[in-house]
Amino acid sequence: MFEYQRSHRYFAQAGRGLEELAQSELEELGAKDCKEGFCGVYFTASQETLYRINYCGRIISRVLAPLVSFPCPSDQVLYKKAEALDWASIFPAQKTFAIFSSVSDSRIKHSQFASLRLKDAIADYFRKKYGRRPDVDTEEPDVWLNLNIRKDQAVISLDTSGGSLHRRGYRKETVAAPIQETLAAAVIRISGWPGPDDDIKPLLDPMCGSGTLLSEALMAYCRIPAGFKRGTYGFFHLPDFDFNLWREVKNACDSRIREYPQGARLIKGSDISLQAVEASLRNLKEIPGGFRIPVQRKDFRDIRKAENHVIISNPPYGVRTSDMENLQVLFKDMGDFLKQRCQGSTAYILVGNKELSKHIGLKISRRIPLYNGPLEIRLVKIEAY
Ligand SMILES: C[S@@+](CC[C@H](N)C(=O)[O-])C[C@H]1O[C@@H](n2cnc3c(N)ncnc32)[C@H](O)[C@@H]1O
Repeated sequence: MFEYQRSHRYFAQAGRGLEELAQSELEELGAKDCKEGFCGVYFTASQETLYRINYCGRIISRVLAPLVSFPCPSDQVLYKKAEALDWASIFPAQKTFAIFSSVSDSRIKHSQFASLRLKDAIADYFRKKYGRRPDVDTEEPDVWLNLNIRKDQAVISLDTSGGSLHRRGYRKETVAAPIQETLAAAVIRISGWPGPDDDIKPLLDPMCGSGTLLSEALMAYCRIPAGFKRGTYGFFHLPDFDFNLWREVKNACDSRIREYPQGARLIKGSDISLQAVEASLRNLKEIPGGFRIPVQRKDFRDIRKAENHVIISNPPYGVRTSDMENLQVLFKDMGDFLKQRCQGSTAYILVGNKELSKHIGLKISRRIPLYNGPLEIRLVKIEAY
C-alpha cells in the first residue's frame, strides 16, 4: 500500500504568493484539513475530490500523491527504498516516465544526481522482474514522478496531474511575455469577477497580448473546468484509479458549464499589435463561446470610454533599463486613461516594477505581491472615480 492510500493526504503545488488563494480554491473543491506549505498546500481528499481538484483547479499547478517518505541520508538508501516499491502497479515497462527532483539542506546535494539514482532503481526493478525497463522521456512522459529531499527526508510522489495544470490546451499562439494561465486565473479570482449575475460589470483587457486573461475570464464566467481541453491526467496511473468515478466527476463538473450569451459584451480585449489580436482570437476560439469575445487592434489611448468596467491588464514589464522611459510614459497615459475615461471602473494592473506604478498617478487601494515565474511583480488595484 502506498502512503497516499493510508493517509489520503496530498500536496498541491502553486506559484509563490498564491498559497492562500490556492487553499481557498481547494476548499471550494472539497479538500479538507488544508495546511499551507512553501509554494503549495497540503490537504486531505477522497478519490472523487482528488479527480475534481485536478480537473477544476485553476490556480494550482499540480497535485502530488506521496508513494513513500523516508529518512534519506545517502543515495544507497534512496536506491534501496525506491527499488522496493511496487512500480508495476503504477505503470508497465512499455510506458515512459520522468523524474523531477528538488533537493535542499541534505547530504545528497544535487537534484540531477537524486533523479539519476531514482531512475536507476526503477529501471533495475523492472529489468529484474520483467527483463526490460521503461524508457525515460523528459518532454511528454506517460508517468510523471516527483522526488523531494529536504533535510535528509525524502518523499517520492506520483504527479497526479501528469505535468503542470497551466497547460490548459487552448494556447495555440503566443506573444512575447505571456502571463501564465494559473497566474491569470489567480488575478481574475482576486478581482472577484464576474460576481453575482445581476451585477456583472464588463471585463476589459486593453493590452491583452495572447488573450490569457480574457481566456481565463471566459472559463470562469462559463464555469468551464480548467482541464476541459486536457486529455489525460497522472491520476489515471494510480493503482486504485476508478474510471467510472472519474467519468461521474467529469460529467458533474461539465453539467455546470453555461453558455456565453450571444451579444453579451461581458468580456472584451484589445491590443496595439495585430499579431497579439490574432493570437488572442485564435486562442479564444479553442474555448466554447470564445468566438463571441471581441478583440480589436487598438492603442488603449484611443479607447473612447470604459466606464463601470473591471479593467484587468498586464502591460509590458520592461526588463531592460532602456525600456524604462517608454514605460513611464505608458503608465502615465494609462493613469490618464483611467482618470478621464473610466469613471466607476475598478482596475487591476500587473506591474513588473514598483517604480512604474508611481507613474500611474492615481491612488492605489491594494498592492498584492505576486510572481510571474521568477519575476517578482505587483498586482495593483485602482478605483477610477
Ligand atoms: C506583457 S504583454 C501582455 C501579455 C498577455 N497578458 C498574455 O498573456 O499574452 C503586453 C502587451 O501590451 C501591448 N501594448 C503595449 N503598448 C500598448 C498600447 N499602447 N496599447 C495597447 N496595447 C499595448 C503589447 O502589444 C503586448 O501584447
